Amino acid sequence: MTDTGPARITLETLHALKKRGERIACLTCYDAGFTRLLEAAGVELFIIGDSLGMVVMGHDSTVPVTMQDMVYHAANVARVGRSAYRVVDLPYHSYTDAGTALHNARRLVDEGGAHMVKLEGGSAMASIVARLVEAGIPVCGHIGLLPQSVELYGGYKVQGRDADSAAALRADAQALEAAGAGLLVMECMPAALAADITQSVGIPTIGIGAGPGCDGQVLVLYDMLGITRGRLPRFVHDFLDAGGSISGAVRAYVAAVKAGAYPSAAHSY
Ligand code: KIV
Repeated sequence: MTDTGPARITLETLHALKKRGERIACLTCYDAGFTRLLEAAGVELFIIGDSLGMVVMGHDSTVPVTMQDMVYHAANVARVGRSAYRVVDLPYHSYTDAGTALHNARRLVDEGGAHMVKLEGGSAMASIVARLVEAGIPVCGHIGLLPQSVELYGGYKVQGRDADSAAALRADAQALEAAGAGLLVMECMPAALAADITQSVGIPTIGIGAGPGCDGQVLVLYDMLGITRGRLPRFVHDFLDAGGSISGAVRAYVAAVKAGAYPSAAHSY
């Protein structure tokens, strides 16, 4: 039987999109039903993020999320996933050294069907990234606001606002690329800094609260569907209002990202 669904997105596809200047549409995804819906609506990249600890499991932060939680949700997505490239988070304390990181990254690939694993941190993580890549596991870096370290910052705060911290983030991006990272998430940083980093690296950058100058955008699915309650960061936009249905909302998000209409200056720092 001929498969008429969207073509399988690979890391090569994502790099080609960056080269062509075409923005990458990414959302978080945690289950089979949404996997089918998001793929049909044109989402190219999934992050099976440890944000699931908050939006699905009801924790206050991502810190309590376990390997078992990540494997369970990643496998639910992988079981029915056909086209989107799947990045799965290594949860808190699962990559404290290279050996532990390798063991857990292999579990996410073997049991969770991950195409790539993601870990939080910059230059300090370079040797672990290099070890995973050497073992054949693609890695996504994550810099800026690091939700697993929120206790260290004393809250969810924009990073890289002063010259020294901006320079450190630039150096982090370079170090992760040099270590072999294939993608880079940049969370909550000034738009100008994120645009500058995007120009300075060869790998695609995926922004969340990092302005319009990134190669792609990601939002937490529950946030962009207006499900999350309480005070939300300025970069969150509810696409359900205009979209009319869940599927329409996701299509509207993909179209807005592709057109460069989301995020706007109003969503940026
Ligand atoms: O945990 C998560 O969902 C993430 C993305 C929002 C980048 O890390």
